[in-house]
Amino acid sequence: MSRLIIEGGRPLCGELRIQGAKNSALPILTSALLCDSPSIIHNCPDLSDVEASCSILKYLGCEITRVGENVCIDPSGADKFDIPEDLMREMRSSIVFLGAICAKLGKARISFPGGCELGPRPIDLHLSALKQLGVVIEEDHGWLNCHVDGRLHGANIVMSFPSVGATENIMLAAATAQGTTTIVNAAREPEIDDVADFLRQCGAKISGTGESIITIEGVSHLKGCEHTVMPDRIVAATYMAATGITGGDLTLTGVNIRHLSPVLPAFFEAGCEIYTEGDLIHIQRRGPLKSVKYVRTMPYPGFPTDAQAPIMAMSTKAYGTSIFIENIFENRYKHAAELVRLGANIKVEGKVAIVEGTENLFGAAVEATDLRGGAALVVAGLAAEGKTVVTGLHHIDRGYAGIEAELSTLGAKIYRM
Ligand code: EPU
Repeated sequence: MSRLIIEGGRPLCGELRIQGAKNSALPILTSALLCDSPSIIHNCPDLSDVEASCSILKYLGCEITRVGENVCIDPSGADKFDIPEDLMREMRSSIVFLGAICAKLGKARISFPGGCELGPRPIDLHLSALKQLGVVIEEDHGWLNCHVDGRLHGANIVMSFPSVGATENIMLAAATAQGTTTIVNAAREPEIDDVADFLRQCGAKISGTGESIITIEGVSHLKGCEHTVMPDRIVAATYMAATGITGGDLTLTGVNIRHLSPVLPAFFEAGCEIYTEGDLIHIQRRGPLKSVKYVRTMPYPGFPTDAQAPIMAMSTKAYGTSIFIENIFENRYKHAAELVRLGANIKVEGKVAIVEGTENLFGAAVEATDLRGGAALVVAGLAAEGKTVVTGLHHIDRGYAGIEAELSTLGAKIYRM
């Protein structure tokens, strides 16, 4: 079992280019299936989730070539309509394949996506939307057997919650459907915009992304294109939290400042100085680390749930009390118990977590139980006295490309065993 060993107490300093966004790369890889010619995706991060997506595409009959961060997907031989359970279980976002396979082949058979660590994650919004677009879905002992009579057709879909994955599934299924689809109460996350940009370059007619109402006029076919994945705003926020807690001085390049605007107030409140210019953000903490008062997770442009754990880690060493309210997932505080092992003072009550800042954290053995929670343990470990050992690295590797190499270049003492 591999583990990260961190000897904390060194300020994070230097410059780092931010990787491509996992949550954008995954649905874009899926979208490439819809095309009738190859696509090349640039800035595709080297992550186990990206590997898992490529394995599904290969299984479906696509030819995948990867050179560094460039992935070429040739979907011309894709003729399989099922996804085996072991591939489906690797990651929840595989549910977005359902819309794409139904649109391409008129039928699909997949199992329910991976059991998840963030609490119950139903797919009712995905299924209801796809049914409205003309997919007939039968549930059979954990499997979804789907078929389309004729071609998918446009619909006016009103979502009760702006689900990111369901918005993507609808866009993919509707891109080549007959007629016009509208999504009301669509997710507005920047990753949705990036997926739509890819699809537009392929010939799709999608407007309104970034707003609550998205309109998709179905086209008869999509051709492959070249696309560069947007920068990962959550990885950026994680390294910023690590800078805040260690009293460092970090410049991140290749970021989109607008995407980071929901998290910046937390860093200002914590006493960090921030300077931005173009695609660069510079963060430094010279004075005392202060608490972040209230963090309420919300759909974009609210504070992202994915940044909650790293910012909580930063607040464990701040002067004062920080209060977190997790509104998106039911069970996204598992990292709190592990942070407590490092000496943090955190009380969790339902969707609320209260962090009383403490002067020192102390190295200990901790286990990552989900992706962002795992990153939070690394953030805390970088500021803890002595040695922190983090296990459960497969969670962290889903979303952070070479985390120990990146942090080492910034002066951290961290290595993998
Ligand atoms: N929900 C339903 N029914 C549905 C779909 C969602 O009740 O049919 C609920 C979920 O249970 C959850 C909430 O709606 O409580 C939000 O879920 P959403 O569908 O928006 O999330 P997702 O598409 O499953 C993506 C990201 C997550 C990120 C969320 C929220 C990907 C691959 N995953 O998940 O990223 O937390 O949006 O922004 O894009 C991560 O990267 O660590 C991660 C978990």
